[in-house]
Amino acid sequence: MQNAENRGGADAAALRGSRILLVIAGGIAAYKCLDLIRRLRENGAHVRCILTRAGAEFVTPLSVETLAGQTVHTDTLALTAESEIAHIRLGQQADIVVVAPATADIMAKMAHGIADDLATSTLIAADKPTLLAPAMNTRMWQHPATARNRARLEADGVAVVGPNDGPLAEGESGPGRMAEVPEIVAAIADVLAARSGSLAGLRVLITSGPTYEPIDPVRFLGNRSSGKQGHAIAAACAEAGADVLLVSGPTAEAAPEGVETVRIETAEEMLAACEQGLPADVAICAAAVSDWRAAAPQDQKIKKPRRGEGQSDGAPTLELTENPDILATLSAPGPKRPRLVVGFAAETEDVEANAAAKLTAKGCDWILANRVAEGAVFGDDGNVIHLLTRAEGGGAPAVEQWPRMSKAEVAARLVQRIVEALSSDAETA
Ligand code: CTP
Repeated sequence: MQNAENRGGADAAALRGSRILLVIAGGIAAYKCLDLIRRLRENGAHVRCILTRAGAEFVTPLSVETLAGQTVHTDTLALTAESEIAHIRLGQQADIVVVAPATADIMAKMAHGIADDLATSTLIAADKPTLLAPAMNTRMWQHPATARNRARLEADGVAVVGPNDGPLAEGESGPGRMAEVPEIVAAIADVLAARSGSLAGLRVLITSGPTYEPIDPVRFLGNRSSGKQGHAIAAACAEAGADVLLVSGPTAEAAPEGVETVRIETAEEMLAACEQGLPADVAICAAAVSDWRAAAPQDQKIKKPRRGEGQSDGAPTLELTENPDILATLSAPGPKRPRLVVGFAAETEDVEANAAAKLTAKGCDWILANRVAEGAVFGDDGNVIHLLTRAEGGGAPAVEQWPRMSKAEVAARLVQRIVEALSSDAETA
């Protein structure tokens, strides 16, 4: 990451026109928020503020309001007629939610989903990227409970800036000082940059949905894949500015906005469409491809033998043949191999071991392994993901466990990981 002071232009570009919801909690560092608001506004951001009851002990609503140029939201104001929806509306109307200072108390509440005032209710209702700037006494910061809460929040996708080491208000010294204002501004800009335009200039190929393998003109072999995850990934990549080609089997999902969508039925058609779609920088195989197809699909409907034709068992034998493996084909070394190839694995047991074996077998770079034992995944709106990353040199893959999240959240986090991976690639190249 660049030094906070040297990044003025990049920060300004990310902040210009952005809508920031700043939650000011109760801590001595709250006074720095006044400067933070000023800097954000200087960079063209719109800043709305929620001041918690404890926060109002450290800075006055009037000073926050004056600097932000907008009404400050407090629990008292939230008791007005519009209060019912304030906590929903504030999150919806923001591009990012920033909590500064993030106290041990507010972090604990966020980690446990407690919503007992306007700030915490807004935080739990907001489906927007969230950044915390923790500030507290060193001992509070180092307490195992705070460490657990921080880890939980980071696993939930919450970004954290600081705290820094240094003298604290109580006369002690150590980690706990809130990050400096330029550092917080840079962290906000990073989060905003990862959200939009971060995949600009990149081509992403995505497979989604089931494949249908014909047996005869009316029957097929298929599966219950809904295509929701693949389509959500396509939508998220397009939102991040990528040029997206979505190769989709038959699903009820609509083609995401701004995405070139090719509809196919069989695995062979899916492979052909993918190969035609190359070159791509990233390939993501989210489709539930039928592993087999009928060896000899019939041109005419297979008829049941009529009674009395002397056959004891009228059931035909279906001979199957293996389908091409699209993920393995795209992963094969060669000039057309995308820089990053991502596969999925649905596992009911030994998730990590099975997914690690699949990573090697398919030759892809990442596997997003789904645990399907805890409930249906096909058609479900939630997913529990383990991200396995192939280790350079053939060691055991790195594993990152994601908490239960919606398919849209999985898509957003995957985009964030792709941006990080490709930018660190570019730095080392
Ligand atoms: N895949 C593919 N082409 C195939 C089969 C699978 O591209 N013919 C991709 C899927 O899109 C997915 C991954 O490979 O990214 C899943 O691999 P697969 O071996 O089919 O695993 P599971 O579906 O998890 O099933 P199983 O454990 O039975 O192998």
